[in-house]
Amino acid sequence: MFNLTGLTTLKLPFYASSILKLSSIENVCVSMPDLASTPRLIVGGGSNLVVLEPEFDGVVLRPEIQCFKPVQTGDDVYLEVGAGHSWHHTVMQTLNEGWFGLENLALIPGWMGAAPVQNIGAYGVELKDHCLRVKLYDFEEQAVIELAASELAFGYRHSILKESPDRFLVLTVTLKLSTRPQPRVEYGAIIEELERQGLNPSSPLDVAKAVMSIRQAKLPDPDETPNVGSFFKNPVVRTAVADRLKAQFPEMPTYPDGEQTKIAAGWLIDHLGLKGHQIGGFSVHKRQALVLTNDGSGTADDLRALVALIRSSVKATFGLSLAVEPTEVGQLT
Ligand code: EPU
Repeated sequence: MFNLTGLTTLKLPFYASSILKLSSIENVCVSMPDLASTPRLIVGGGSNLVVLEPEFDGVVLRPEIQCFKPVQTGDDVYLEVGAGHSWHHTVMQTLNEGWFGLENLALIPGWMGAAPVQNIGAYGVELKDHCLRVKLYDFEEQAVIELAASELAFGYRHSILKESPDRFLVLTVTLKLSTRPQPRVEYGAIIEELERQGLNPSSPLDVAKAVMSIRQAKLPDPDETPNVGSFFKNPVVRTAVADRLKAQFPEMPTYPDGEQTKIAAGWLIDHLGLKGHQIGGFSVHKRQALVLTNDGSGTADDLRALVALIRSSVKATFGLSLAVEPTEVGQLT
């Protein structure tokens, strides 16, 4: 078996029978039909993957497809990017070209191909706001297809690609950008950070700098401290439920989410005093309770125990169930 532990940022033991690097769409079309009945796991940046069973008896696919094709019409820029590009490098490259829109999404780890799968988001912006369409390999049809953003059922950290992980492989993503800067700075601490650093709120590059500073201050760098970003989703509940909780816990952060209300799960875990709590090699991060870190010695069982403790404590105090955000390989509970 191949030791692929280093391909995931959580660094739990991971061995697979084989690994296949896919460098082009042609390469995908030629090699995929033979794999139609082989268990497959797609691993790009590996920054949103929790491997709970160390041995995977199947093929790991690495979509390393490179492509960077901009088409400009007036102020609009449509940019097709290969699944194998680093998300953050793409963000910086677009800003340097003067194509704006992705500034709030700077420093998110991972590859382009994963961005539409869980509709990555940060600081009030989501991939769906800038995604025109995706090109996919469809294992069921054994063909390359294109789906428009409207067909992907994007939601909070969700899309049809997340629902059907065995059916689709993302080949390219076409982004919708603009040469006209329209920075969105209303979320959280962006304005304060811009002011603190004397940066210009109308400059997308400055907004990206502020976002990077906030992320660097709060979130552990996956290259140094193994983690997968937020481990849980923020629960979205009926507004009446949120209002009831808010009456009991007035300082609990809430955000309107359509007809419903989103509750900050990090605050819930923090309020229970669990920041820094450690089981074996896994801990709740000291500066952001939604992130769980591995000190390098953590086992899947340590993680299971920490997750069970967090979930049962949140349930007991707030009556809320926390859903896991990253993709699980194997059983967490
Ligand atoms: N909070 C605490 N204690 C904590 C963590 C958070 O009190 O330990 C409070 C904060 O003070 C703030 C609120 O909870 O009032 C929300 O915190 P934050 O702005 O850090 O965002 P989040 O809801 O915890 C989400 C995303 C992050 C994204 C940030 C910024 C999810 C699951 N997570 O976190 O995404 O960077 O917003 O937009 O929606 C990721 O998906 O991996 C990720 C890091």
